[in-house]
Amino acid sequence: MTKTWDAVIIGGGAAGLFCAGVAGQLGKKVLVLDHAPVLGEKIRISGGGRCNFTNVHSSPANFLSLNPHFVKSALAKYSSTEFIKLVSTYGIAYHEKHQGQLFCDDSAKQIIEMLMSECAKGKVSIRNPVSVESIAQDATGWNVHTNAGIEKTKAVVMATGGLPVPAIGATAYSLDIAKQFGLEVVDPRPALVPLSFTADTFGNLNDLAGLSVPVRIASGSKGHRYGACRFNEDLLLTHKGLSGPAVLQASSYWVEGEPIHIDWLGAIEVEGGFNCDALFNDDDNRLKLAETILSSVLPQRLAKAFAEQRNLGGRKWAEVSKKDRQALKELLTNWSVKPAGTLGWKKAEVMLGGVDTKDLDGQTMMSRAHPGLFFIGECVDVTGHLGGHNFQWAWASGFVCAQAL
Ligand code: FDA
Repeated sequence: MTKTWDAVIIGGGAAGLFCAGVAGQLGKKVLVLDHAPVLGEKIRISGGGRCNFTNVHSSPANFLSLNPHFVKSALAKYSSTEFIKLVSTYGIAYHEKHQGQLFCDDSAKQIIEMLMSECAKGKVSIRNPVSVESIAQDATGWNVHTNAGIEKTKAVVMATGGLPVPAIGATAYSLDIAKQFGLEVVDPRPALVPLSFTADTFGNLNDLAGLSVPVRIASGSKGHRYGACRFNEDLLLTHKGLSGPAVLQASSYWVEGEPIHIDWLGAIEVEGGFNCDALFNDDDNRLKLAETILSSVLPQRLAKAFAEQRNLGGRKWAEVSKKDRQALKELLTNWSVKPAGTLGWKKAEVMLGGVDTKDLDGQTMMSRAHPGLFFIGECVDVTGHLGGHNFQWAWASGFVCAQAL
């Protein structure tokens, strides 16, 4: 007699493996299918190889979705505290880096090993590499057709992630299945991604590659589908444009054709108690060069570039008119630039958009119209801020799904 699984999970990444382990330990017969020869590759490369596996402050405010309330139930049922407890049970050493971000001290591989051990505890069957060819429903349940035969199951969990990093096997399969069963899909777009600029936008700033500067950054707009944001983070100037945490965060909210706004002094104003007005008015600085004054708050190369942009290079502060000082202040505190685009899926960390949450039940992640069909992790229209929130979503959505299988 053909075996019928309680759940077949397509995709053995963060959400799929976690969901499988939890469901298996609840006594469910679970099969994970993945097309990749090695599982958990995104976890392995995450956080620079140390996996920023969650964030102690993770809350609904850290997520973008057409329905910002959708994440509430799952995050409440499985918070970062729960995942930290699990990591601690395995004796995995970790540290907090910045704004609640938790990283493994040693290696992201420890998180993969932990997920595999949880699956083993739940007697989960894992098969890879396997190609899933089609998924169909009949009166007896679900049939998952693979290159190695048909699997019969009571439930199908789509957990194939998002489109970033196609080189390690990212596909749109969950989105294709959603469309096949009539669920809406919010247009996918690269997010947490560096932004590119045309050569004329930057001019001499192009020589500044490698500089990292704390800034206040703003992008998006209230009327935009994901709203607007403001972050105090580090910005990195690169040969290709702008990157670093500030720009990655802003990229998720950026609307094509619109500018982003950078206050080069805003972050130190907030964090260092620095008074921007005093800098631009201070007559004690009369005999200093404009670039020397700016270099008290900015890296020297950047200070020089900004002074030169306003034709103030080599000029003493006393020689700079009030109007020019004002224009320089405006340039530094409200630098408005239009990105030409993003560096695309190759460089993105996550996908914005995905299976529309209006077609899913936030308590279980099940399709409202197709009982037994679930979507978890990055394939859903839920995108976290940088800093461990995307993994927290993978764990939380996988957990609530597992309870419902
Ligand atoms: P995930 O991508 O983990 O897993 C999907 C699985 O499905 C893969 O195993 C894949 O092989 C499989 N699959 C795909 N198509 C298939 C198909 N057609 N058939 C069968 N199997 C298929 N987040 C964070 O919180 N902290 C961090 O430090 C980082 N760092 C980071 C760095 C980089 C470089 C990237 C690209 C991303 C991150 N992220 C991150 C994001 C994080 O990796 C991501 O949000 C989660 O891995 C999403 O988990 P999922 O399980 O949804 O997808």
